[in-house]
Amino acid sequence: MSRRAANASDYRELAKARLPHFLFEYLDGGSYDEVTLKRNLTDLRSVVLKQQVLRDVSDIDLKTTLFSKEWAMPVGLGPVGLAGLYARRGEVQAARAAANARIPFALSTVSACSLGEVAASGHVPWYQLYFVKDRGFVAQMIETAREASCGALVLTVDLAVPGSRYRDARAAGVGPRRTLQLLARPRWLWDVGLLGKPHSLGNLEPIVGKKAPLSDFQTWIQSNFDPSVNWKDVEWVRGQWKGPLVIKGILDPDDAREAAKSGADAIVVSNHGGRQLDGVLSTASALGPIADAIGGRLPILVDGGVRSGLDVVRMLALGADFVLLGRAWAYALAAGGEQGVAHVLKLIEAEMRVAMALTGCTRVNEVDRSLLA
Ligand code: GLV
Repeated sequence: MSRRAANASDYRELAKARLPHFLFEYLDGGSYDEVTLKRNLTDLRSVVLKQQVLRDVSDIDLKTTLFSKEWAMPVGLGPVGLAGLYARRGEVQAARAAANARIPFALSTVSACSLGEVAASGHVPWYQLYFVKDRGFVAQMIETAREASCGALVLTVDLAVPGSRYRDARAAGVGPRRTLQLLARPRWLWDVGLLGKPHSLGNLEPIVGKKAPLSDFQTWIQSNFDPSVNWKDVEWVRGQWKGPLVIKGILDPDDAREAAKSGADAIVVSNHGGRQLDGVLSTASALGPIADAIGGRLPILVDGGVRSGLDVVRMLALGADFVLLGRAWAYALAAGGEQGVAHVLKLIEAEMRVAMALTGCTRVNEVDRSLLA
């Protein structure tokens, strides 16, 4: 299956053919008219790099250091909700692919596999944290991440309320409608639907029970997430978590400055893959001004629309230090499991090498704004 994909985008079609309709729509969709979702892709693709030649690019090294750890390349698997339903025990498969590629994997709070299950596979992830209403439970999740020795806590701050996702609403349904969607994907039904149980939200089972909210995720988020979350809560988390604290969901230079003051160790420039406030800036457009505001005080991670190693180099040139993949790895997971994710990472690495060679860079830290044409 993975051999048929020439690039990460090819996996989208393969995922569409493999996943039940409602799951593909959840993964693929954005909010409202999906303006920002599209902007993430088109703005990034319209970043023009300088071709620079005759600079001896025979020795290219992609290694980079983040949070005192060396990674094979400045790329990680960002948190993606319900990934454990795209392939059998999907988050464990993704964690393994990331570990083998020597890059980080961030486990979503709303994953199917719990942090305990992923950590037990021997590949301890970063942990992405949402504020649910029960603060005692949030404290407990932070403690679980500490006990598991997670390499970073990624506090996602752009989902105080869920964006309206029309595709989810259209694809939703129970009874015969849902049954037809499942029967149309027998391979998934057998491999994930039957053999991949349980389908609960592993990390949240203690507060929400064993049933995953597959038919109405938006309403579920509305009733379980805490819209009162504010900068004081970041301080509160900082007080409980001594390891690297990453604030994910920054799109505005003032918020970036505030994040730097809050004691965070890094930020992720993100609009949640175009799934929250539609019409906001693409991350490729937001990145430069945020890099100026941060002025090198903190590492800047970014996600949104990254589908190739060339896109990774574009993000680095715009001012990022590290790049997170979202749909790019989740499509591959749906289509080909761990092997699919491993294949996408190999493609990204190869494409990065070519982009660096043709821009005349041999080290990641040489990729900066001077490369923008
Ligand atoms: C969850 O993080 C989502 O975007 O659905």
